[in-house]
Amino acid sequence: MELNKEYINYLKSSGNGDVSLFLSKSSTPDILYFLENLGYLPKNFDGDLLVPLIKHQNSNIRFWTVKNLGKINSDKYINVLFSLAKNDTDTSVRREAVSSIGRLRNFKAKDNLINLLQDYDPKIVSQAIRGLLIFKNDLKVQLELKKLLEHPNEIIQSVIKKEFFSKIDNDNPTEKGTHTISPEYLKNIVVNGDVLDVLKYVPDESIHLTFTSPPYYNARDYSIYPSYQEYLLFLEKAFKEVHRITKEGRFFILNTSPIIIPRVSRSHSSKRYPIPFDIHPYLIKMGWEFIDDIVWLKPEASVKNRIAGFMQHRKPLAYKPNATTEYLMVYRKQTEKLLDWNMRQYDWEIVQESKVPEGYESSNVWKIDPTLFNQIRRVA
Ligand SMILES: C[S@@+](CC[C@H](N)C(=O)[O-])C[C@H]1O[C@@H](n2cnc3c(N)ncnc32)[C@H](O)[C@@H]1O
Repeated sequence: MELNKEYINYLKSSGNGDVSLFLSKSSTPDILYFLENLGYLPKNFDGDLLVPLIKHQNSNIRFWTVKNLGKINSDKYINVLFSLAKNDTDTSVRREAVSSIGRLRNFKAKDNLINLLQDYDPKIVSQAIRGLLIFKNDLKVQLELKKLLEHPNEIIQSVIKKEFFSKIDNDNPTEKGTHTISPEYLKNIVVNGDVLDVLKYVPDESIHLTFTSPPYYNARDYSIYPSYQEYLLFLEKAFKEVHRITKEGRFFILNTSPIIIPRVSRSHSSKRYPIPFDIHPYLIKMGWEFIDDIVWLKPEASVKNRIAGFMQHRKPLAYKPNATTEYLMVYRKQTEKLLDWNMRQYDWEIVQESKVPEGYESSNVWKIDPTLFNQIRRVA
C-alpha cells in the first residue's frame, strides 16, 4: 500500500501492533516520512515503539522520534530525552530533546533541566530556561536561574535580568503617560545651525525618530575633519545627543555608506572608509540597539564609474566594483520594553490612522534613483 497521510492515519487508528509491524519492515525514508507526518497521537499510542529509533544512525529519524516522544504527555520518557539532550552527536536532536522535556511541563524534569543549564550550547541553555520558567516560583529553580545573570551569553543574561530583576511588566499595560507627546515648539520647524549647538536646546526624551545623513567624512566639501578618528568622534558626540533626546524605545536611522578618498598621486593608493561599520560599535556602546540594515540601491548609471579600468585589464587583484549602495542603519533606544509597549501608549484611533498604505518595500533593499530628486527640484 502506498505510504501517504491517509495510510499513516489508518495505521495510528488500527493499533500499536500495526505500527510496530510497519516500523520493523520499512526503509529509512519511509520511517522518516511516517515520523514527520504522525501528527496528533491517539491516547493509547505506545511510545515504547518509537524508543529504539533514538539510536537510529540517521539524525533526522532521531530528531523526529524526539519530537513525537515529546507529544506523549508522560514522564516515562524524561530520562530517554535527557540522555539524548546530553549525548547525541547532532545539535538539532539535542535541542529538540530539551525542548520536548520542557513541553512536558512536568516537575519531575526539574533536576534534568537544571543540569542542562551547564551546557556549552546557549540554545540548549535557553530551552532549559524556558522549561524551568514554568516552575519559576520554586526556590531551587529560582536560585539556579538567577545564577545565570553571570552567564557569558548576552541573550541568556538579558532573559534572566528581565525575568527576575526587572520592574517592568510588558504583559500588563500601564497608565498612558507622556510618551506620545512632543513639545509644540519643536513641531514643523527647520533650524539652520551646527548640530552640536542646536541639539542642546532639545529636551531629554522628547523625540520619536531621528533620520540623519551626516557628512561623509571628507569625501564632499561641506565639512572638513582633521582625521577620520576626529570625524568618528564628532559623530559620536552628535549621536550621544540624539540618544539623550530620544524617547524610550524609539528610533534612530543613520544613512551612510563606505566612501573613497581619492589618491594623492599615481604613486599612492586611494583609501576606502567603511563608515557605517566603524560608527556601529560607538552606537551600541552608547545604548542603541541594532534593529535593521536597509540597503539603498541606486541605478548603476547614477554613481561614479570605478569599473572602467578593470574592464580593460581584467586583473583580478585590481577589481573595483561600482558602489551602487548606501546603508540605512536602523537602531532603537535600548529598553526592556517591547515594541508593543510603545504602540499601546497611543489611542486606538491613532494606531488605526497610522497604518502604512500599500506600496511599501517588503525587502531590505530599497531601490531609489537619487537623480529623481534633482529632476523633481528642477521641475519645482
Ligand atoms: C550627506 S549631507 C546630507 C544632506 C541632506 N540629506 C540634504 O538633502 O540636505 C550632510 C549634511 O550635513 C551638513 N553638516 C555638516 N556638518 C554639520 C554640522 N556640524 N551641523 C549640522 N549640519 C552639518 C552638511 O552641510 C550637509 O548638508
